[in-house]
Amino acid sequence: MKGRSPFKTNFPLSLKGEGDKGGEVDRQSSWGVKMRVPMIAGNWKMNTTISEAVELVSKMRRGLDEIGDVEKVVCPPFVSLSAVKELIKGSSIRLGAQNLYFEEKGAYTGEISPLMVADLCEFVIIGHSERRQYFNETGETVNRKLRAALKVGLKPILCIGERLEEKETGRTEEVVTQQLWSSLAGIDSLGDLIIAYEPVWAIGTGKAATGKQVNETVGLISLSIAQLYDKVVAQNMRILYGGSVTADNIAEFMPQPEIDGALVGGASLKADEFLSIVRQTSEIKGRLSR
Ligand code: PGA
Repeated sequence: MKGRSPFKTNFPLSLKGEGDKGGEVDRQSSWGVKMRVPMIAGNWKMNTTISEAVELVSKMRRGLDEIGDVEKVVCPPFVSLSAVKELIKGSSIRLGAQNLYFEEKGAYTGEISPLMVADLCEFVIIGHSERRQYFNETGETVNRKLRAALKVGLKPILCIGERLEEKETGRTEEVVTQQLWSSLAGIDSLGDLIIAYEPVWAIGTGKAATGKQVNETVGLISLSIAQLYDKVVAQNMRILYGGSVTADNIAEFMPQPEIDGALVGGASLKADEFLSIVRQTSEIKGRLSR
């Protein structure tokens, strides 16, 4: 990370002066850029008992395996991870946890360490707004969790997003950029970090953002990453949208070139709906890449 203070960042951001056309990162194609495989991740939150989790993933497994060109991730509660892992062996479904603690082991009653998560999972959600809101997670704890996850080779899905009053006072860009800054402070290599842009006002409310709004903010996030790291890191990084994504509105987001997939809460608890979201993503992103 380049050593600039978040508080000296000028808004709006721009890449001008770095030999670029300024104002945006071309995330389409250029040298050193991997194809960003779209991702749909289901965040089950605090839902499903072990047997319900097993039932849910059993209903999705075959259907998900028939859909190509999308990375499919499910993030059940901790207690169901082992059972779900057994069930998805040999399938294309990948496993993620919803949280971790930043210490590796010790007297931290009730917590789950990065090593324990890495034993079972490939992905981990970090900094979800519900954790910031109900469990006092701050920029600093999110940063420590992110470092801990990267250290053990997990692929973090870092959640950032503005609250309603911040959006209404025109502070989206500032808030999102500062969340990025504090989350990534002192981290030199981002590994396989994925970012989920989740405006807090859109989560669980049924009021999704518009594709155009999200595309703009995701473009801005990618510009921030280019400024903090470099352009190739920004071009390779997957940035998802999250907030009331359903089978009925996924087609609003996936045609947008900056958006690489979705983090889905409520709708990921219904096998048919989750399948439809993944299928539509595969079709739409497939058409765009042709
Ligand atoms: P939602 O949740 O799809 O239920 O709005 C998204 C999230 O919190 O990741």
